[in-house]
Amino acid sequence: MRLHRYSRSPLNFSILTTFGMALLLSQGCRAQSRSLASTPPMGWNSWNHYATNVTEADVRANADALVASGMRDAGYIYVNIDDTWEGKRDAQGNIHPNSKFPDMKALADYVHSKGLKLGIYSSPGPKTCAGYEGSYGHEQQDANTYAKWGIDYLKYDLCSFRGTMQEESGGDQQKQWAMMRQAYEKMHQALLNTHRPIVFSLCQYGWDAVWQWGPKVGGNLWRTTGDVKDNYDRMSVIGFSQAGLSKYAAPGHWNDPDMLEIGNGKMTADEYRTQMSLWSILAAPLLAGNDLSKMDATTKSILMNKDVIAVDQDRLGIQGDRVSATGPFEVWMKPLAGDAKAVALFNRANFPYPISVQLKSVGFAGDAHARDLWEHKDLGTVQGSYSATVPAHGVVMLKLWQ
Ligand code: GLA
Repeated sequence: MRLHRYSRSPLNFSILTTFGMALLLSQGCRAQSRSLASTPPMGWNSWNHYATNVTEADVRANADALVASGMRDAGYIYVNIDDTWEGKRDAQGNIHPNSKFPDMKALADYVHSKGLKLGIYSSPGPKTCAGYEGSYGHEQQDANTYAKWGIDYLKYDLCSFRGTMQEESGGDQQKQWAMMRQAYEKMHQALLNTHRPIVFSLCQYGWDAVWQWGPKVGGNLWRTTGDVKDNYDRMSVIGFSQAGLSKYAAPGHWNDPDMLEIGNGKMTADEYRTQMSLWSILAAPLLAGNDLSKMDATTKSILMNKDVIAVDQDRLGIQGDRVSATGPFEVWMKPLAGDAKAVALFNRANFPYPISVQLKSVGFAGDAHARDLWEHKDLGTVQGSYSATVPAHGVVMLKLWQ
């Protein structure tokens, strides 16, 4: 009744319209942040290969290589500078890059001119993990600076804020967790205040079950573990420990088991295929961590396997999970659009071994069509179950549909 009366009054109607427009606009701003990272972010990050040595020239070279290699067109669009770009603050407290990065705005313009986006790194603490200047006490100022430079992605790494948490909480664990969440929320608000869409990547190593509260503090992705390394033991411990986290991922909000090591040279091609397959089943961010200007054909074929990338980037945004583990032999499944499924058979043993999957265990009542995503081969119709000999530390990955 009231609604009826309001709708007849031009004055009230205009108030309502103005109010409604304002609401829509404010929701539009929020919606903008929700539409960020509607599929898991893809790109490159400097840390795994360059660590503390990264320079502006390296970032430009890797941006060039993203385009020349075809990776940009395969979906890798973020060029993320990790730790060690930070210089000093000026008298007004504005952060400046150090001498390795003479002009951040010019670098952003260059990256944007290539159809790519630029990411940067900071910490809620006074210092970053490598001991450079963090954002503590300068959150809004830093967010404004990033927006002014044209930054599109921020990785926000807990680092020295751990010390601040310990000191200020008097050792109370619950207080520490509350401080940590507040620190991420503070930067989230600062980023929103800039009105620039900036992907917000939480990095606090999975503490306090971040997947349960990451979206509430604006995280588009959150690290679920400590750091990956370029060896099978560390990569596989991280990747396979993601079992059970699938329900926490959704478009705009992803579990992040850390970056790719593919092409860094210390794993076999089968081991790198395992990382690419597992990360895609997990709907994980695909952030290459190698020197893209020096990739061999095998590295390119792994990073640019379009069938596997399509699993990671599937529009439903459903993270896959473990179906079974029989000793070191694991079957994982990710639901895809069109009632299809990606199924991966992982062999964690150091000898080749046949692994089978029952179609009904991955949700098919009858027969299914199959495609081998590493062989790039249609396998025709599969009945009842599928078996393949999987190489040591390797994977066989299928797409199945009816
Ligand atoms: C932490 C992060 C890494 C990297 C380094 C940089 O260890 O987990 O991913 O960003 O800091 O110092």
